[in-house]
Amino acid sequence: MAENRIRVLLVHAFPDTTAYITALLGLERDISLEGSVANGSAGLKQASEAKPDVILVGSELPDTDSAGLVRQITTKLPRTGVIVLVTADDPNELRRYMQAGARSFLVMPFSSEQLAESIRDVYRRMRSVKVAAEPRHSAPAGNAGQGKLVAVFGPKGGVGKSTLAANLAVALRRNAERKVALVDCSFSFGDLHLFFDIKPERTIVDFIDCGPDGDLDTLEQVLRRHSSGVALLARPVRPEHAEMITTDGLRHTLDVLTQGYDVTVLDCPASYDDRVLMALDRAHVIILIVTPDLGTLYNATTFLSLTRALGYSRERIMIVFNRYDSQGGASVKEVEDTLSHAVEFKVPSRWRDFSSALNSGVPYALSHPNSELARTLASLADMVLKKCDGQ
Ligand SMILES: Nc1ncnc2c1ncn2[C@@H]1O[C@H](COP(=O)(O)OP(=O)(O)OP(=O)(O)O)[C@@H](O)[C@H]1O
Ligand SMILES: [Mg+2]
Repeated sequence: MAENRIRVLLVHAFPDTTAYITALLGLERDISLEGSVANGSAGLKQASEAKPDVILVGSELPDTDSAGLVRQITTKLPRTGVIVLVTADDPNELRRYMQAGARSFLVMPFSSEQLAESIRDVYRRMRSVKVAAEPRHSAPAGNAGQGKLVAVFGPKGGVGKSTLAANLAVALRRNAERKVALVDCSFSFGDLHLFFDIKPERTIVDFIDCGPDGDLDTLEQVLRRHSSGVALLARPVRPEHAEMITTDGLRHTLDVLTQGYDVTVLDCPASYDDRVLMALDRAHVIILIVTPDLGTLYNATTFLSLTRALGYSRERIMIVFNRYDSQGGASVKEVEDTLSHAVEFKVPSRWRDFSSALNSGVPYALSHPNSELARTLASLADMVLKKCDGQ
């Protein structure tokens, strides 16, 4: 256990606070306080030698400005997360610490749970930064092909991303006769393979492991081809392997997919993880799925402001209103007014059809090709292709 503990350094001027934090952390089995010092210069020296996972920095130090110390630490030790301990949550002060590179802050007094959770949270976030900061290869520039990338994104879990991504891929393949790949970008908990009753034996990790030499031939060995003709790139077999998928590795994978497939559909998780943002950045079309509940609409509004801040054109975003006819939910007009964006496509609520399709491992668009719902999904595919052609 000892070697797996989160290693923490404390830099704080007041002995009483140091004693309090030492006592609190003494109770945590997964956190080890490796040392404590009372001023900035000793803090920087000890940090450089011990390279702890997390450093707690007090806001009042005798010899240095705390924000300056945070900046020095985060520049010198980009893999160490800094949490600032403040006496009041003055927004201007907090902004200064965050700009200096602090990952979090705690307002005193705090409980042992708040302290431990904050340390664990920063540690987890720094670990994912480490993975991104240490790409095993960088993607060769400009190797993208002619194929189009369609990201299916939803601002909340369970809105129907995988259901619509799977059926869209089938409809693009069967009705529009395109060469179609489908990527499960929920690298830890993705379930896209279940929609096709496919076992994820060879997965995206096997391709990313090949580094920049991984080409279309290599990728074809990893893709699982379904009887519908859709080629699935499944999520890693083990959830902990999700961390092996770097942003560069995913970028390279998407580039290679565009060399061999007319359309690649990306089933993205409801997250702003670096890899998801890169995929959204690269997508020719982003399908934003919303459902008629307040939480989803609120998060969708935040997502749309983010896309504006990132400079995405409105034309790239296509709002699909899933389960639009659910009883008691928001109307199309209410959704459009809330989002200030037109709803371009509506999918009815058909719980029994979609869940029995999932249970049988055959996407609905494939098992009931002549049904009205399958025709709706086919027109979704047509609209997506038109949007792709416009990009
Ligand atoms: N139009 C619909 N009508 C009725 N049920 C639906 C509809 N679309 C999706 N569902 C159901 O909603 C549930 C969640 O769907 P799905 O797994 O596709 O969501 P998700 O957004 O991919 O979730 P996650 O965020 O967990 O990946 C499933 O049971 C699915 O059958
Ligand atoms: Mg899903």
